Amino acid sequence: ITLKASYFSAYTPETSSFHENSLIEVNDCGYITKIVHQATPEYNAHLTAAQQHDQLIILAPGHFLLPGFIDLHNHAPQWPQAGIALDRPLADWLNHYTFPLEARYKNLDFATLVYHDLITEMLANGTTTALYFGTIHNAANLRLAEICAQAGQRAFIGSVAMDNPQQTPDYYRDASAEIAVTKTQIFIQTIQDNYPSGLIQPVITPRFIPSCTTATLQRLGQLAKELQITVQTHCSESDWEHDYVRERFGHTDAEMLQSFGLLNQHAVLAHATQLTTEDQTIIKTEQSTIAHCPLSNAYFGNSVLPTRSLMDQGIQVGLGSDIAGGYTPSLYANLQQAVTVSQIRQDGIDDRLPAIERGVPNSRISVKRAFYLATVGGAAGLDIQAGAIEPGLLADFQVVKAPPHLMSLTPDEQLEQLLFRHTKQQIKAVYVQGKLVHEKEHNWYE
Ligand code: GUN
Ligand code: FE
Repeated sequence: ITLKASYFSAYTPETSSFHENSLIEVNDCGYITKIVHQATPEYNAHLTAAQQHDQLIILAPGHFLLPGFIDLHNHAPQWPQAGIALDRPLADWLNHYTFPLEARYKNLDFATLVYHDLITEMLANGTTTALYFGTIHNAANLRLAEICAQAGQRAFIGSVAMDNPQQTPDYYRDASAEIAVTKTQIFIQTIQDNYPSGLIQPVITPRFIPSCTTATLQRLGQLAKELQITVQTHCSESDWEHDYVRERFGHTDAEMLQSFGLLNQHAVLAHATQLTTEDQTIIKTEQSTIAHCPLSNAYFGNSVLPTRSLMDQGIQVGLGSDIAGGYTPSLYANLQQAVTVSQIRQDGIDDRLPAIERGVPNSRISVKRAFYLATVGGAAGLDIQAGAIEPGLLADFQVVKAPPHLMSLTPDEQLEQLLFRHTKQQIKAVYVQGKLVHEKEHNWYE
């Protein structure tokens, strides 16, 4: 197919590209093979050729193409409790709400019901790739994989390892380190056998240090070294969690994760709001990625990730919904929150003299940077050829209808309005790997 579309794509954290009515050629394998811009010598010839082959899709006026969003942290099984009990502290929320809910996924019918609803909702929100925590149950995790594959969403899925009797309830725990690790190995093998295309990929997933025994953390670290696949865990999310690890090991989360071999360029660390400067150096050295979950961090982290300073140091950051520590799977809501909380972290120094000491200088993050996090940042974290609209990358798109034009806008203003005056209703169509996976109505193309 060839799409004729005006599109935005993040380029660097502070720049994005905009092209009007370009021709975006997608091959049968779902890769963007060529983009021809208006007013180039080849434009008309390409337009005619695409028309003749009857495979030209022309976006209707007022519609724009954006890269699909990439959710770097999502607990699929927690979807039924989205929005519930966010006024409770993390440990309380885990023990009274989350663990009882996750334990229900030994029932495959329940898993099917929830996962089907979540994946439909994620695609309708423009999320084309997600990194998921499942539960401890391989059967339910495999069901999640089937549902993602069927719906056409690119998914990285982890079978959750948690075997520490001190921090997990009797009714929801891996019975031993042996079981936690063997189960992980079986899950990885099954996913790799069943989905050779790579649309679905397995992830090594120690829930977080408190919920795992040392044996499990060590052996999963060994597995991470052997297999070189994605690793996901929570890191320094809250004071309670951070302090627990310090008391148990005399070290921080990042130090311990590194010592277990769980940090490398394939690791995605959720939250990371309580990092020390030494922790930041470790994460940079290991080239791991931080999943910034700005909605969730307000509730359970009671803090704002120093996104700007981490990125300025060269640490890779993407965006996560943390369903259900965050209450919405929408990455639009999360990128809005990322910008909003950065304004709160920021102090008055930029605007007012003398300086008033109520925040941190240079904390502000721009709308463009938040757009970058939701796209390029996530793709880099997962090492996938996606996140931007460029030749050679996967054709993961969302077609978004702009709000009514009440005055003329520059391209930058148009992008900001698309991202901030967003409703789900405005996402008209979603493509993953060149395949239409969600369509709201038919009037988005001519
Ligand atoms: N830490 C350990 N498990 C969880 C979880 O399910 N959600 C969040 N936000 N933090 C966690
Ligand atoms: Fe989480």
